[in-house]
Amino acid sequence: MAATIKNIRIFLFFLCLISQGNSFFSCLNSCSLTDLYVNTSKTGVTIQGKSEWLVTVTNNCQCSQSQGILNCPGYKTVEPVDPNILTYSGTDYCLINYGKPIYKQPITFKYAWDTTFSMSPNSSQITC
Ligand SMILES: *[C@@H]1O[C@H](CO)[C@@H](O)[C@H](O)[C@H]1NC(C)=O
Ligand SMILES: *[C@@H]1O[C@H](CO)[C@@H](O)[C@H](O)[C@H]1NC(C)=O
Repeated sequence: MAATIKNIRIFLFFLCLISQGNSFFSCLNSCSLTDLYVNTSKTGVTIQGKSEWLVTVTNNCQCSQSQGILNCPGYKTVEPVDPNILTYSGTDYCLINYGKPIYKQPITFKYAWDTTFSMSPNSSQITC
């Protein structure tokens, strides 16, 4: 049983290495894009008739993740968001933290619109 688990970990390690954009150390620490966790919750505040949403981006990885890009198709807001925290590409992507590394400390921002936009990690650079 223990041997099987070890084999799976070795397999995952090599799978990680051959995936694009992963370094030896990020694989060793088994960090991945999915360690970026996005949580959206309603603040209860209304701005210009739109609901305000609080988004928390947490990096659950031991390593920093820079160039963090979220899929955020159709993103709109009536509440200005600091571009140092979130920049919308105008198409389907949102750059987090102006591309600067995201550490354990969560990144938060608020936007206001009728509905939430589904935001999920698209890519990042993991540095250990
Ligand atoms: C998302 O954030 C809200 C507000 O901080 C919190 O109540 C909720 O438990 C979080 N959800 C998850 C799945 O972490
Ligand atoms: C990132 O965006 C590209 C282009 O839209 C898409 O093909 C790819 O599946 C996305 N990756 C993830 C992890 O969402």
